[in-house]
Amino acid sequence: MSVNIDWDQLGFAYMELPYRWRAYWKDGEWYKEGLEEGKKFLISEGSTSLHYGQEAFEGLKAYRTKTGQIQLFRVDQNAQRLVNSAKRLLMPEYPVEKFIEAVKKTVQANADYVPPYGSGASLYIRPLLIGVGDNIGVSPAPEYIFTVFCMPVGPYYRNGLAPMPFVTSKYDRAAPFGTGASKVGGNYGGSLLPGQHAHAEGYGDVVYLDPATHTKVEEIGSANFYGIEKETNKFITPKSPSILPSITKYSLLYLAKERLGLEVEEGDVYVDELDRFAEAGAMGTAAVISPISRIDHGDKTFYFYSETEVGPITQCLYNELVGIQYGDIEAPEGWIFPVE
Ligand code: PLP
Ligand code: COI
Repeated sequence: MSVNIDWDQLGFAYMELPYRWRAYWKDGEWYKEGLEEGKKFLISEGSTSLHYGQEAFEGLKAYRTKTGQIQLFRVDQNAQRLVNSAKRLLMPEYPVEKFIEAVKKTVQANADYVPPYGSGASLYIRPLLIGVGDNIGVSPAPEYIFTVFCMPVGPYYRNGLAPMPFVTSKYDRAAPFGTGASKVGGNYGGSLLPGQHAHAEGYGDVVYLDPATHTKVEEIGSANFYGIEKETNKFITPKSPSILPSITKYSLLYLAKERLGLEVEEGDVYVDELDRFAEAGAMGTAAVISPISRIDHGDKTFYFYSETEVGPITQCLYNELVGIQYGDIEAPEGWIFPVE
């Protein structure tokens, strides 16, 4: 079957595909695991995911290679991060091997919707773990649902690889010892208001500062931050216990060092010293690598490589990462999972 989609025109938007994985948990066990049709399900009004944010999610992509194969990028890392998020919110773990299988089965079942090689689009996959069942006190849910659904997507930021301006926020997305390092809904609910303000003013996204002192860059609303230091060309990205441990970030730290021969550092990025960077960008599954043209911070503005052109190191990092994801460049061992 072929589907009628204008792959080049896709943005980052929901689309209902025929199949999704679902698994149900009760009394210590996962049961009724398999593919289901239909985007809707019924849950109790007492579900902890609705009241108390007892839920966690993931985001990863499937790519179609030049030969037509479908492959996943580092799905084992997403599986492990969901286990970590589940532990933080006292939810049962969906085991890593089961997670990988669930993602593969979901992608296989919706294979017609994996965009063709060369379209620049990919299949975005959203695993989700939620507390459900009857509950009213602030305590863990008696039941859980794990689901994996997916849809074809294009660029997350409307400009794709064209640089965009970003702005710092007076709001925090996470507390110093809160849930910033877990991929849980609560971190995102609080980011909607600052995100809306930033978008209304024409910015690509918000730059969050460290919640304790507001002097250091933490991360972007939907991605991690990196800068390329002037003169040294060092790839620098913030280190903090309250940011999401981004799989793209760890991949780029490796690729920058091992493939591009750059020095790399996870360290403090003081917002007042942003002019130490020649290039800056946002990196993540949805964001891929999105160059930042400038960051507005109060009455200061920090300009990076160009308002319109992609910086040379950003371009090299992008080519290496995306080349690996679409199967054009050999991947480090264990990074690619074929979907048979
Ligand atoms: N930071 C935040 C807040 C995110 O939402 C994301 C997206 O998942 C990332 C960073 C990037 O993480 P990853 O590279 O694992 O997609
Ligand atoms: C991702 O990059 O997968 C994300 O989760 C970012 C955003 C869509 C929440």
